[in-house]
Amino acid sequence: MHQPRSVREADVAGRRVLCRVDFNVPLAEGGVADDTRIRAALPTIRLLLANGAAEVVLLSHLGRPKGPDPAFSLEPAEERLRELLPDRKIRVLDNTRFHPGETENDPEYARELAAHGDVYVNDAFGSAHRAHASTEGVAHLLPAYAGLLLERELHELGTLLESPERPFVAVVGGAKVEDKIGVLQSLGERADTLLVGGKMAEELRVEPRPGLDAELPQDVVAAVSFDADAESRVAEVDAVPDGWLGLDIGPRTRDAFAERIGGAGTVFWNGPMGVFEWPRFAGGTKAVAQAVAAADAHTVVGGGDSVRAVDELGLAERIDWVSTGGGASLELLEGKELPGVMAIPAA
Ligand code: 3PG
Repeated sequence: MHQPRSVREADVAGRRVLCRVDFNVPLAEGGVADDTRIRAALPTIRLLLANGAAEVVLLSHLGRPKGPDPAFSLEPAEERLRELLPDRKIRVLDNTRFHPGETENDPEYARELAAHGDVYVNDAFGSAHRAHASTEGVAHLLPAYAGLLLERELHELGTLLESPERPFVAVVGGAKVEDKIGVLQSLGERADTLLVGGKMAEELRVEPRPGLDAELPQDVVAAVSFDADAESRVAEVDAVPDGWLGLDIGPRTRDAFAERIGGAGTVFWNGPMGVFEWPRFAGGTKAVAQAVAAADAHTVVGGGDSVRAVDELGLAERIDWVSTGGGASLELLEGKELPGVMAIPAA
């Protein structure tokens, strides 16, 4: 795996540092609904300031706007950042996706961005799988370094790929096998045990993938219809009856998965075990989250929904590493090189 050189080695004294962060955060009522990604960028920004940077110019995208659009302004993120770290040397540029050159990785736009700095630091792990002007193009125009968050993510996820403490237990859930087949295959080869839950487990039962050795649920919570309505019939069954839907892993599976997790040296978890937004189908996801939090193993959780589950359950503090990357963490675990990382010279 490519090891990019670190911001710790960068000479930033008296220089303007252009720093790509991932402030693609959820917004609500004009403010930031979850500031995890903003807080995750603070160590690098603090390091740059402590090392004497003349200015720290932050770059990020937010959402997927089709052009300049006030609904996708980075202002709420900037406001939150200034509450956490008030420093007049910090400047935040507009949402990079207000410019069409961003996603096209247009060299002209990359040059425009590069003009804001003397040195470039990429700390946007969550966007490192995108070959965009602010994540890739600009890295070729300035001396480029990896930020502390990017480094830590590569270390944590890279260790899962290369040298996990064994037994290595991977737990993958979610709706569609197709979305995660690459990561399932990669983890199937590397982990000692691959536990699969969620709707994708049903898909694998109906259509097993050759060579994929996964442990599937022994029982499921099934319902006659797909709704949160308390009136609909729900049952714990070994196999989903015809015309019913499996909406969570059952109690025997929860115990079996928890036992595997409890005996692990390393655990990676991505994806919910059921429709956890609805309390009656949240039990499986909750049981996995609790087992991961309680495990003596080195534990890593990645991907939006599972991260949300550990946050909502107040368990994030008990997980060794909660990744800030969704798509980026999955691509890395598939064994793919990330363009935003590759563009930084090696250590
Ligand atoms: C993410 O939230 O996964 C990253 O910020 C990337 O966003 P994108 O999928 O819109 O490129």
